[in-house]
Parts: sequence; C-alpha cells; structure tokens
Amino acid sequence: MSVLIQNGALVLPEGPVRADLRMDGGRIVQIGPDLPAGDSQVVDAAGKLVFPGFIDTHTHFEMNKGLPNETADDWRTGSMAALAGGTTTVLDFAEPQRGCSLRSALETWHKRADGVASCHYGFHMTIKDWDSRIQAELKDMTAAGVTSYKVYMAYDNLRLSDGVIYEVLKATAAEGAVVGCHCENGDLVTAGIAAQRAAGNLGVEAHPLSRPPLVEAEAVGRYLAIAELAGAPVNIVHLSTRRGLEAVRAARARGQKLYVETCPQYLLLDDSLYGLPDFEGAKYVFSPPARSRDDRAALWEGVAAGEIDTMGTDHCSFDFHGVKELGRDDFAKIPNGLPGVEHRPALMYHFGVGQGRMTVSDLARLLAENPAKLFGMWPQKGCLAVGSDADVVLFDPARTWTITAKEQVQAVDYTPYEGMTLTGRPEAVFLSGRLAARDGKVLLEGQGQFVRRGKSQFWR
Ligand code: URP
Ligand code: ZN
Ligand code: ZN
Repeated sequence: MSVLIQNGALVLPEGPVRADLRMDGGRIVQIGPDLPAGDSQVVDAAGKLVFPGFIDTHTHFEMNKGLPNETADDWRTGSMAALAGGTTTVLDFAEPQRGCSLRSALETWHKRADGVASCHYGFHMTIKDWDSRIQAELKDMTAAGVTSYKVYMAYDNLRLSDGVIYEVLKATAAEGAVVGCHCENGDLVTAGIAAQRAAGNLGVEAHPLSRPPLVEAEAVGRYLAIAELAGAPVNIVHLSTRRGLEAVRAARARGQKLYVETCPQYLLLDDSLYGLPDFEGAKYVFSPPARSRDDRAALWEGVAAGEIDTMGTDHCSFDFHGVKELGRDDFAKIPNGLPGVEHRPALMYHFGVGQGRMTVSDLARLLAENPAKLFGMWPQKGCLAVGSDADVVLFDPARTWTITAKEQVQAVDYTPYEGMTLTGRPEAVFLSGRLAARDGKVLLEGQGQFVRRGKSQFWR
C-alpha cells in the first residue's frame, strides 16, 4: 500500500521545504505541495522533520564471534537498534580469518546478516593479508557490491606495513573503491602500552596515555602520504584529534582528495571519563581514545567548516560486566569499543542542530547524503528524491527524552550516553516504504536487504 507523508518539512540539501512525500513499492514516487491522498495511507507530519533514512557506515556487529571478547550486539540486535534510532542502512566491517580469502569473509557476513538484519546493510572488506590471490579477488568484490575496504595501522593482529598499504591503495583505486584507514601508529601504541605497564600504570587512566594524539596525527599524515603516492582518494575513519585534522587540512591545501569521518564519541565525550571510579572508565575504552576538550572543540570546528564528511558510530559494543572486565588488572586487555548505533541521529540533532552548530541539512549531509555518495549508494539512498529508496525518518524536533541502557534496544549492558536528556527524536522510521520502527521500538524485524553498492562518487 502506498503511504503519503503530509505537511512535514522535508530536509533537502538546500534546507527544509514544506511538501508532501508519497512512497509506493519501496520507492519515493512523488514529492510536492498538497498531494492528493487518493488511496494512500496518510501520515500527518505537521511540526515534524522528514529526513532521508540515516546511514551509519561504521559498525562492528558480531565481532570476535565465539571468543570471550565477542561483541554484545549481533546482527539481530545491532540492526534493530540502528532502525529504532532512525538508521536505515549500516555498513559493517567484514573481516577474513588470517590467511583466508575475501570471499570467505563475505560469505560469513552474508550468513550472519541475510534474513536477520532489520535495517538495510552492506559490507566494507577488511584487508589483513595481501598477495596476488587476494588482489585477484577485488574484482569479485566489486561484482558482489562490496566497493570499500579497511586497513589498519594499529592492532598487532590486523595492521599492515606501509608498503602493503601502498599496494592495496593502488589496486583498490583501480577498482574505483575507497579505503578507510584506522590511523594510529602501531609501533608507538605498543611502546606506549609497554611504558605505562613499566611505570606500574595498569588502570584505565593509562589507556589514553598509551595512545596520545600524536600517535594518531603521525599515522594520518603517513596514510595521506602513502595515498598521494598511490594516487588514491582515501577515507580516514574515526578522526579524533586537532593534530590529525591539521594534517588533513594540510593535505587538502595541497589538493589531495580525501574524506574524513568522525564519530559522536569524539564530539561529545572527553578523556576525563577515564578517571571514573570503580573501573567505570572502561566503558569509554575505545581506540583512538576519547580526547581533550581542545580536540573536541577542534572537531566541532571541523564540522562547522565542512571539513568532516561523514559521522559513523564505530559501534562495537562490549558488555561492561564480564567483557570490559577482562581488563580489570591491565588496561591493555580491556576490549576496545563502545555502543552508539542507536543514538547517533538524536545525539547529533540535539548537540549539533539544537545547539546551533549545524543546520538540519548539514545533519542530513553528514549522516545520509555523504555516506551514500562516498560508498556508492547515491542517489538510491541518502536523499529524498523521486525514484530513491523509501527509507525515510519522521523526526520530532520537540520531543524531550532521556537515554538509558534500560530502555535501549542495543543488547549491551550500558550506554556511554546514560542519563543524557535530549530534545529531538526519530518518531517513525520507514524502511522501503513500510513503517518499521516507532518511538524507539522496532515494529518490523528481519526485513533489511543487502545493498549492492557501486563505485564511490567523490564530490571533492
Ligand atoms: O575501539 C574501537 N574503535 N574498536 C573497533 C575497531 C576499530 O578500531 O574500529
Ligand atoms: Zn578503527
Ligand atoms: Zn571501527
């Protein structure tokens, strides 16, 4: 049945526009003033904002499967949490086992997500090994709709050498794919952890000290140098520091094509949290760590200046009890990651739009339009346009509510945003034209579809 959203303010790139929007057959079929109801089901959106479904291009669902540090959210709960909070598409990181093919990881991720996911989804592919066999698989990945990759400069079980990253960038650029990088200098992290341990600092406070801002900034500069040599446009994920942003600015001033993601945790949290009593700081152990207030201010400046392109969550949820606690005696053993997929749109509306740091169109650009363009989904997703997928969020800008772990959908025993009272919340979430979530509760489970993505559409 077709659905007509009437009287809402449609969030378009040029600003909010009062218009009606009709959805039918999974697509947006009509946009205009005062559309006749006909036989459509009518939804009154007076006083509401109508956003394109939000896209989170950085999740880790069902990570470390079968291990003691397995993530709390699997595909079922992670995708439900996304949908409940207005995110209609996620891109998750598929990761091959050591020495295994990209194809094997793709199959595993499909097995986990297909028929299970409640929001639409796609996969980035993590490159852990590199040889001619893996390189030959890139074409298969493109054909399978996987057009983005991730490399790591840190984590001993994941990181690649600079030479290998260079080869990966050349080969993936030839496919029109984009590579995101976890930019932290792995050797310096190892040294930082060793130094903290040697000094007897085994508590949570040692986490940010072991990976200070320069560890990120150096890696950002190095990654961009490798990318420039390789002639590849690249993506920097979870940028957290002023110094890292300065490296980005310098590269852009030289004319380099690059894209930058930051995450709500780097805009809203800070490193004072590591001093919380009773090991509570472990809830904020993720990498790169939460930073100083100055770094946070720099990132907001970057958002205001249009220097940040996308805002993912890096949702990687570990229970505090039993899992974060693996590191009670040694901060370096605390599983790195935090939940966020459920609350990103409301947090960014409240702290971004509500506090005058961005417009509603900026929010749509950072959380929908740019992710869709960078990751080959535009204009199928990321915009309100005739012919686009009918993934649509009706957002109540006046609704005041409080984030609590007790009421969240994500299946983790805490939220880093506990007790934050926000103004603005997704009210109704339409997935392919069907009402799929309302007031933070999922109504339609398991209806997510795999998004076969095309090449990146670079806009700068
Ligand atoms: O601490 C984090 N960010 N864990 C998830 C993996 C990653 O580095 O993105
Ligand atoms: Zn990372
Ligand atoms: Zn991540």
